[in-house]
Amino acid sequence: MFKLKGEGTNYLKGLKVGDDIDYLAPLGNMFTIPRAGEKALLIGAGIGIAPMLYLKKVLTEHGVENLLVSGFKDEDEVVEGSDRTVVGGSVMDDIQALIDEFSPQILYSCGPKVVLQMVCDVAAKNGLRAEIAMEKVMACGIGVCRGCVIKLRQGDSVKNASVCADGPVFEGTEVIWE
Ligand code: FES
Repeated sequence: MFKLKGEGTNYLKGLKVGDDIDYLAPLGNMFTIPRAGEKALLIGAGIGIAPMLYLKKVLTEHGVENLLVSGFKDEDEVVEGSDRTVVGGSVMDDIQALIDEFSPQILYSCGPKVVLQMVCDVAAKNGLRAEIAMEKVMACGIGVCRGCVIKLRQGDSVKNASVCADGPVFEGTEVIWE
């Protein structure tokens, strides 16, 4: 699943079933599966819905109760498969009410930085864990070019981490927002 953004995604759009492509996968880490009995609230914004849909499938297969809410700018962007969909407004507008109603122990999210930061804030406020998949423009994908580095808080120190190789999934409490 991808969103048309430029040269690379236009190339992908032009592919036909059966065409050969050269690619590296899988790269990076993945979301963790919650502990038994925990409930998960999944929040996808825009094309960030892609990993949330797959995570929902995996969690359901593992018997983890989950709820996926997604937000899109307009009707043209909507991807089916969420339990609740917000079109036009922010997916974060009613998130506190959803947390109160569903009582999750963990939040998962993928989307723009502003949404991820809000997810981490609301998780911290409610004493919940959060795992977020960061979006970054990536050149090499294997931790070499350092073009996708973010800062992580680890104890009293700060670590530079590559979103492509150390992530894209990070604990919400670790990320230093710049
Ligand atoms: S894309 Fe090169 S280090 Fe992440």
